[in-house]
Amino acid sequence: MPERHADNFIPFNRPSVEGHELDYIKEAVEHGHTSASGPFSKLAVDELMAATGAADVLLTTSCTAALEMSAILLDIEPGDTIVAPSFGFVTTALAFVRAGAKILFCDIEPDTLSLDVDRLADIMDDTVKAVVPIHYSGIGGHIDEMCDVIARWPNADLVEDNAHGLFGSYRGKPLGSFGRFSTLSFHETKNFICGEGGALVVNDPADIDRAHVIYDKGTNRRAFLHGQVDKYSWQDVGSSFGLADALAAYLYGQLEQKDSILAKRRHVFDHYRNALTPLVESHGIRLPMVPDHCQQAYHMFYVVMPDGEMRNHVLRSMNDDGIYATFHYVPLHSAPGGVAVAARELACPVTDDISARLLRLPFFTTLGHDDLERVTESFIRAVEQF
Ligand SMILES: Cc1ncc(COP(=O)(O)O)c(C=O)c1O
Repeated sequence: MPERHADNFIPFNRPSVEGHELDYIKEAVEHGHTSASGPFSKLAVDELMAATGAADVLLTTSCTAALEMSAILLDIEPGDTIVAPSFGFVTTALAFVRAGAKILFCDIEPDTLSLDVDRLADIMDDTVKAVVPIHYSGIGGHIDEMCDVIARWPNADLVEDNAHGLFGSYRGKPLGSFGRFSTLSFHETKNFICGEGGALVVNDPADIDRAHVIYDKGTNRRAFLHGQVDKYSWQDVGSSFGLADALAAYLYGQLEQKDSILAKRRHVFDHYRNALTPLVESHGIRLPMVPDHCQQAYHMFYVVMPDGEMRNHVLRSMNDDGIYATFHYVPLHSAPGGVAVAARELACPVTDDISARLLRLPFFTTLGHDDLERVTESFIRAVEQF
């Protein structure tokens, strides 16, 4: 791990203030509504509904919480299974395990690193209640084909883990708009942030009322606030899923700067891609593949190295240079927690291979030209020294 406090240290991620975030947080506190569902939540929800075309959006304490809400909404119970990518985040699967489901860990395909649709077709069965793909790196994989496979199984719904993909699109349609539900993350490592936060995107209007009851600690508080009942009471299961309005204020300040944030992130991506492209031929590295029909969300820049040894060497060497490049997901299917909840043992050779070879470069909006040069020079030097 590099020395984080050194003057010239380049972290993997650095949260930034892009517009009026601090003014809005102050305003939220002074206005007096700092808990969930306040005025800034409404503004942020409006932005997110416009971006995704959703029937409703509920701001949550995290993407994990939104995934847990989708598990409750789908009535997941013991005996059900969920398909999730082995090359994925723990809670993409764990949110459903908490409701009693077992997991079918599916492999990814090597070009976009999204769920392998042929493998998906092989492993589906009638216990599968949901397929939960990740749009890795904010790039939609083979969504149409995936929807075709899922459509053959009437018990199964699509829940898109869109933690990386806000404002990305697939064949002109927003990522996150394909599933019955999709989820977003505003964790500080994501494109649009508020420290910790997330959202449940509800695409079927029939799910809206129950989603709000689950969100409001199992009560019909929203119906009460809308004057539909004279008091609110316990109706269903649920929890305290709402994002504080003080954090929604932070998030709204970021969403307002959508174009500028995406442009800065695109600049970082393009710099890395242009600088590293010669190494594709000369040293066999692989850069992110963005299919023509996908608009990516500029969430990260990853490189797939020719082998794990070179990946580890480059990581060490860059870290020695004070640059926090890092690996990514450790396969879920062979991790102790994953083995314990697997519906059956499934091999995921592409996941194993990619996980050992993938490296991510620092990626945030305030990386200046000199920083970007330092990162790519350090990377190239390390590759050439190997
Ligand atoms: C694909 C994916 N899903 C879910 C999460 C969890 O997000 P949160 O920290 O908002 O719960 C992450 C976090 O990095 C992620 O990468």
